[in-house]
Amino acid sequence: MMSIEIPVGLTDLLQGYTVEVLRHRPPDLVEFAIQYFKRLQETRKHDNHVKKSPVKSARKAVAFDSNSVESNEDENEDSEDDYRPPPTPNKYSRRVSVCAEAYNPDDDEDEDFEPRVVHPKSDEQRRRLQDACRDTLLFKTLDQEQFSEVLDGMFEVLVKPQEHIIDQGDDGDNFYVIERGVYDIIVLINGVNKCVGKYDNKGSFGELALMYNTPRAATIVATQEGALWGLDRATFHRLIVKNNAKKRKMYEAFIECVPLLKSLELTERMKIVDVVGMKAFKDGERIITQGDEADCFYIVESGEVKIMIISKQDNAEVEIARCSRGQYFGELALVTNKPRAASVYAVGETKCLVIDIQAFERLLGSCKEIMKRNISQYEDQLVALFGSSVEPCGREEPCLV
Ligand code: CMP
Repeated sequence: MMSIEIPVGLTDLLQGYTVEVLRHRPPDLVEFAIQYFKRLQETRKHDNHVKKSPVKSARKAVAFDSNSVESNEDENEDSEDDYRPPPTPNKYSRRVSVCAEAYNPDDDEDEDFEPRVVHPKSDEQRRRLQDACRDTLLFKTLDQEQFSEVLDGMFEVLVKPQEHIIDQGDDGDNFYVIERGVYDIIVLINGVNKCVGKYDNKGSFGELALMYNTPRAATIVATQEGALWGLDRATFHRLIVKNNAKKRKMYEAFIECVPLLKSLELTERMKIVDVVGMKAFKDGERIITQGDEADCFYIVESGEVKIMIISKQDNAEVEIARCSRGQYFGELALVTNKPRAASVYAVGETKCLVIDIQAFERLLGSCKEIMKRNISQYEDQLVALFGSSVEPCGREEPCLV
């Protein structure tokens, strides 16, 4: 009698696929199979890659339970599967397009079936996490439920000095929000690694590779002990990338008519939409404080702001300009690397798009010439307004701080 040998792994492979079919009940089994096996292959490639990377596998994210607050590398290895969801086929996790390609959330039928990743946290951890995420721009446009899902899915990562959190060229695994620590941003430019900036105890990084399915665009190295909160790729896709598609719909038309951004390609403008946060301010609320260190740039979406500087003559704040829809402010300190030269207050209910300094450098570099041209007019305007004794800091059109 002829015996047929079943290849090792075949039964498991087909069983896995069958289970997913039963869970999702897709209308097209062949299309579903293609997606399922592609995703499986990518997950395997990714796993192999992670295993090959000694630094990062030693720095696995720490999935805490409510009783455990210390990280332990053995446990970390064991808990790796905790934060990597199973290879469920879905459009977010397919690595297809690159760069600002419009993604339509309405196309997605599988999102409700995505397993929700929850990393249990103690009250103290949750409080620290909430503090760390308070100013994360990418989370600013999420609704309450999405935000709490993001917090549930985040896990603590403790880092040591000189540890590479991300290496340029790698596949993207997690997005990170900084709780504490200083991190150098290193980019390979003309074959030479250059430190192009740093995160100093705040900010977030690692979104680009996850948003655009591109290799990591920079290397991020801890310069001291620190703590990060990670969000796995699948959860990031499900919540942030989907939200970005909505953001594009909401802000596309607005961004198109911001004069400063006219010179950018459409894809560049859409990348700005992907990383902006939206902040709402009440009448009279201070948005920027003169003398503060600068970490972001603003575009008025609705309402109005007034720019005030402290006059040296009488030590009182004097209004020097206003900005309304489509105008920007907050670039001067970023361009000059100096403290904020004026304060800015909301006039009535005001909403602003906010771009952090790293995205500003990366995406608005080519707009800097336009900004500089406008900046050079500020001093003349101030001299005209107050005479020569006033610090050069503000302007009219566009408005800047
Ligand atoms: P990602 O490419 O996923 O991983 C490296 C991260 O470094 C990148 O996302 C950004 O979040 C961050 N980053 C900060 N500054 C830069 C820069 N100038 N170029 C590229 N990435 C940067």
